[in-house]
This record gives sequence, structure tokens and C-alpha cells, in this order.
Amino acid sequence: MLVAIGACYLDTILTTPYYPGEDEKLRATNVTRRRGGNCPNTLEVLQQLTSHESTDEELPLALITILPAKSSITSQQIRSAFRSRVNLDHCIYRDGFEEPASCYIIKSKSTGSRTIVNYNDLPEMSLEEFTGIANELGPKATWVHFEGRTPEMTLQFVRYLRKQFPSIQVSVEIEKPGRPGLQELAEEADVVFYAKTWAQNLGYRTAEECLREQSTRTHEASLLCCTWGQDGACALERGTEDFKHVAAYTTENFQVVDPIGAGDTFIAGMLYALNCKRKDWDLSKRLAFANRVAGMKVSQEGFKGLDRALLSFG
Ligand code: FRU
Repeated sequence: MLVAIGACYLDTILTTPYYPGEDEKLRATNVTRRRGGNCPNTLEVLQQLTSHESTDEELPLALITILPAKSSITSQQIRSAFRSRVNLDHCIYRDGFEEPASCYIIKSKSTGSRTIVNYNDLPEMSLEEFTGIANELGPKATWVHFEGRTPEMTLQFVRYLRKQFPSIQVSVEIEKPGRPGLQELAEEADVVFYAKTWAQNLGYRTAEECLREQSTRTHEASLLCCTWGQDGACALERGTEDFKHVAAYTTENFQVVDPIGAGDTFIAGMLYALNCKRKDWDLSKRLAFANRVAGMKVSQEGFKGLDRALLSFG
């Protein structure tokens, strides 16, 4: 079983012709509301990929996240947005909270940028809550993926898993620029996903520079990945020091339609490759696949039908 742990948001996405200036009045051309959050997005794509006919290896999926009161409309909406493929039995509900964690996103048509303002007043998961869930799921889990949100707490979660369930593979996403503690978190994981914004903030000029330097610090890791927007993505296998780069995925008439969740989709592609195609795909192929499914996501609205990335991927 693959378990993903991270925040779940309700996204309100406004498409605008350009990014507005402060105090300006601007008419949006479209509004969409959907369930978001990095781990839920990753699981949404993983559930499609793992259900695809070309997937032989079974991979049950579970999400651990904090939601408002169970009776709240938003908790119900969020639950129903997942099909039955993702186990939500271990989500934590906060009584007395009606408002979900929310993201308001301005998607500018002229540049393709997505500016995110978020609101989240749900109390974070405590160590006690985590260990309770981990003790129940631990014996079944083979892989646990963490969004690097509250790094100090997450570090304790990872250390608990290492002690109690040493065979579980741990991956982390390192995204928020300048957030203290993410470096230490990266150093504990087996697989690390670095985002461009985090890397740039530390002064790395390319994904390769980020991975080569990070590999001198991440002694636990077997694989490091870094996405770099239009410059594609890189992966470095620690130990063998095998390094691969892939150009951003494009097709004829490729257009950036919806980049929200592209990084989450890349992670889904790589987790799929690592868990379900372990024996069949080498590093180049794993990277090419993660990059392909992320590229397909960028060129479409939302996350539907991304399992087509598996078609003609031979
Ligand atoms: C995309 C996303 C959105 C969410 C925001 C949270 O990566 O997960 O769905 O609103 O980021 O940071």
C-alpha cells in the first residue's frame, strides 16, 4: 500500500487574461472549483495509472489528511471527489471546523503563471495522531509519501516510521522556498522530489546543479528528482551516480492550459514507475514517464484521463 500524507485544499481557480495589479478591477473569463492539495492531486493521478489495464502490479492507495468536521458539506464533497480507489479511512476530522483549507488561484492566460493564496486554519496533525494511524497502517504500507509541510513534525513522523517499520520506503516533496527544516527532511528520505522554486531560492541555477550538490548531503536517499518547468526534469540515482535529464514534454500545437498540480503529477508518475514498473523500467524510462504525464497535465484542464500517458509508452 502507498500512503500519502499532506494537506487537502478546495481550489477556486480564476482564469484571467493577465495577472492583475494591486487594487485593480479585472473580469475573470472562467471559474472552476475542485479538490486540490499536493498529495490529493498525486493520488488522483496515481489512482488512474494503477487502475489502467497495462498495470499488472497492484498498489492500494491511502490518503491521510486533515479535514473539517465530518458532517461539513466540504468534507463530504472532498470525500466524494475521490473514487473508491483511495482509502480515506484514516483522514482526521476537526470537529467545530466547517471551512476547508482553501486556495484561491489566479491563472494568467498571458503568461501561464498560477498565483496561489491559501487559507488553512485546521490544526495540524500531532505526533500522537500520526503514531496511532501509523501503527494501524504500518504493517500494510510499503511506501509513504510526505508533502514537506511542517518539516519539524514531519521529521518526527519519518523517524517514527524508520524505527517501527524499517522496510517502508519514504519519499518527500521539497517545495516551499525558504521553509526552514526542509533540508533536514530531505536528508532522511529514500526518494526526494525537489521543486524548482525551492532550488532557485537556495541559489541553484539548474536542476542538475541542485541534484549533484544535494546528493552530497542526502546519504539515506536512493533517488533524487528535480523538475524545472520549461527546462524539463532531472533524476539522479545515488550510489551509481547515474544522472538523467529529460526535456519538457511537448506535442504539436502544445499549449499551457492548466499548470496547477503539474509537480504533483510528476510525483505521481515517478511513484507509479517506482512501485508498479520496478522491474521493467530503468531510470531513463521512469523519468521520461513522469515527465510525460506531467506535460500532458499542463496541456489540459484538471486531472481527468491522464492514464492515457501509459498508452503507447513502450
Ligand atoms: C497544486 C496545489 C493546489 C493547491 C495548492 C496547495 O500543486 O496542490 O491544488 O491548491 O497547490 O499548495
